[in-house]
Amino acid sequence: MIVNEITGLIGNTPMLKLKMKNNKWHVFLKLEKFNPGQSMKDRMALNMIEEAERNGELRPDGTIVESSSGNTAIGLAIISAAKGYRFIAIVDHHASIEKIDMIKAYGGEIVIVENDKKDGEIAVVEREATAKKIAKEMPNAFYPNQADNVNNRNAYIDTLAKELIDDLGVVNELYGAIGTGGSVCGTAMGLKKLNKNATINAVEPDGSIIFGGEGKPYFQSGTGNPSDAEIPDIIDYDIIDNNFYATDKEAFNTCRYFAKKYGILIGGSAGGVLFKALEDINKKSSSGNAVVLLCDGGEKYLNNIFNNEWMTRNNLLDMTIEEKIKEWI
Ligand SMILES: Cc1ncc(COP(=O)(O)O)c(C=O)c1O
Repeated sequence: MIVNEITGLIGNTPMLKLKMKNNKWHVFLKLEKFNPGQSMKDRMALNMIEEAERNGELRPDGTIVESSSGNTAIGLAIISAAKGYRFIAIVDHHASIEKIDMIKAYGGEIVIVENDKKDGEIAVVEREATAKKIAKEMPNAFYPNQADNVNNRNAYIDTLAKELIDDLGVVNELYGAIGTGGSVCGTAMGLKKLNKNATINAVEPDGSIIFGGEGKPYFQSGTGNPSDAEIPDIIDYDIIDNNFYATDKEAFNTCRYFAKKYGILIGGSAGGVLFKALEDINKKSSSGNAVVLLCDGGEKYLNNIFNNEWMTRNNLLDMTIEEKIKEWI
């Protein structure tokens, strides 16, 4: 494949097929780490920028300012580099070192917001307020505001959903992480647009409050919504059929098992979605195609999820997770 700009390599990611032990379901892992920025968020970063260029919100030599847990910012940094924009990422203490280093490598600038949150708490409110303020005060600046920007969600309609149908023909169950809701709701809308209705399953960290419940800290990065932040405007609750909560233990021990057993490094939210998907699919007696959207790769979490000392310090190692997965696949 030959392209003239790095953006041409966004999308068309591969899938890995798994076999269930107890039923005839086929499970396809959509490996979004094969995007240039190693996450699905490249798709929405490109769409938000191109729509802003079209409607005049982003002009030549402009500056893009966005709040991010890291992946959106990596996507925006790559596209800004390719298109000649200045990019400022507003992150908090939750962003992994690997993500921050990647943003910097692409020429992005980093602002880490000051806050009094603990280790497992996210400073989304502080990040968004800072991004909005900086963009307002800076001439020729654009704040995409991913949580409320429909061009985040729309990015998946004609890309990810179409890729799934082109490759599989039928998708019976879709499982995805939910943070802004852009990826899972957009993919669901795309499937609907193609007249391919699937059951839509959204997975958030235990402690996130998108579907209610008690808010508490969690370490899964980039996904869910803390109790003090507003629910993103672009979440379409009507399109989601089922919701699940993944604990950090379930998520991270799944990541570690998949690395050692299947040779594939996946990120923390991906581990949570995968565990919940396998647990749910294992209960089914019918047959069909299930797609699990794996947002990013584990390369961005070598210092925590894949670090024995960090996992032990945070009391997150749990071998029972691996035993369960072995019963399912
Ligand atoms: C690692 C990771 N998982 C899940 C999500 C949630 O995706 P969405 O915002 O499309 O709901 C994100 C979003 O940034 C992410 O970076």
